[in-house]
Amino acid sequence: MSDIAADGAPDRLVDAKVGADDGAEASLRPQTLDAFVGQRTLCDNLSVFVTAARQRGEPIDHVLLHGPPGLGKTTLARIVAQELGVGFRATSGPIITKAGDLAAVLTNLQPRDVLFIDEIHRLNPAVEEVLYPAMEDGELDLMIGEGPAARSVRIELQPFTLVGATTRLGLLTTPLRDRFGINMRLEFYSPAELVSIVQRNAALLDLPITDAGAAEIANRARGTPRVAGRLLRRVRDFAVVEASLPVDDAVADKALTRLEVDARGLDSMDRRYMRHIIENYAGGPVGIETIAAALSEERDTIEDVVEPFLMQQGFLQRTPRGRMITAGAYGHLGLEAPDPSQGDLLDGHTVATNDSHNFGLDDDGVD
Ligand SMILES: Nc1ncnc2c1ncn2[C@@H]1O[C@H](COP(=O)(O)OP(=O)(O)OP(=O)(O)O)[C@@H](O)[C@H]1O
Ligand SMILES: [Mg+2]
Repeated sequence: MSDIAADGAPDRLVDAKVGADDGAEASLRPQTLDAFVGQRTLCDNLSVFVTAARQRGEPIDHVLLHGPPGLGKTTLARIVAQELGVGFRATSGPIITKAGDLAAVLTNLQPRDVLFIDEIHRLNPAVEEVLYPAMEDGELDLMIGEGPAARSVRIELQPFTLVGATTRLGLLTTPLRDRFGINMRLEFYSPAELVSIVQRNAALLDLPITDAGAAEIANRARGTPRVAGRLLRRVRDFAVVEASLPVDDAVADKALTRLEVDARGLDSMDRRYMRHIIENYAGGPVGIETIAAALSEERDTIEDVVEPFLMQQGFLQRTPRGRMITAGAYGHLGLEAPDPSQGDLLDGHTVATNDSHNFGLDDDGVD
């Protein structure tokens, strides 16, 4: 199954969501847990579960992977199947529209197969009902016929592992969430981890790159392997056309500056977002719907892609009254921050950092 979103492919270079030119991603996907860079605790745990299940000849417990786009959820789901030596079937929440569609997928699984459901928070409730007994007892309860002639049939399923992925844990229903024995959150990657991802990708692309060149790209990759891969491919275009190989920090910087990705990985969309709140709402607080309408962007895109990174960078905070720009953001934009004693301005140093587990994605809090 293709990973490429048919609708609204992102046109931002630093958008963590999958885009039209990300077909090249497939060849860069790590195939084993060992080759998977970062997310160490998660990978170590997963490795234990996989080894134990393989020894027992059983499927592993159902796994829920959640976290911002582009951090490796789909990649990990494939790796789980690979490491278990079983088949991998992929589908996604919005694709399964009827209970019968899901029944067809489930009854076609081979023993211990991994069934991957992407965007699992978008499953329709009738389909979700069918999933519960399948996950819990390995059986399907289907209604056949209508009216007085209707009867329910029970179908035994092969043992399988469901791997669900979501960027929006908060939108998952509690019964569904509770049926996953293993629940894992992916975190943004550290600069050092991104450097090794860039180096690994460059090697796979046969692109000579210096350590400083890799670091320059990694620092602008928003903690996200997908963005790192995309920036690397664009830098490669510049480097090849201008015959400036190997890619060093100067080459990478020149290319990324021309592409309007700044030293912290912010692009024009991020700057537009921050400037909008600063110029029209004196830095906030302001509600997400208002911002989305003013910027003509979908609320989902803003919440999934723009805000988590700005929050992680300490440029933005979500408060009960709405979004607020921090003093750090004024500094980054080269603007003078208003006097904090005069109003609501937040101190950039008190907001979430990389080790925080709350990027504000998991609830739909305010607005
Ligand atoms: N740990 C990693 N090491 C190396 N490459 C990685 C890693 N994680 C992800 N990638 C690469 O990043 C890209 C995006 O990963 P993936 O498609 O698994 O993300 P995702 O979390 O499923 O995103 P989405 O939420 O949009 O579905 C892939 O090209 C993958 O090869
Ligand atoms: Mg995915």
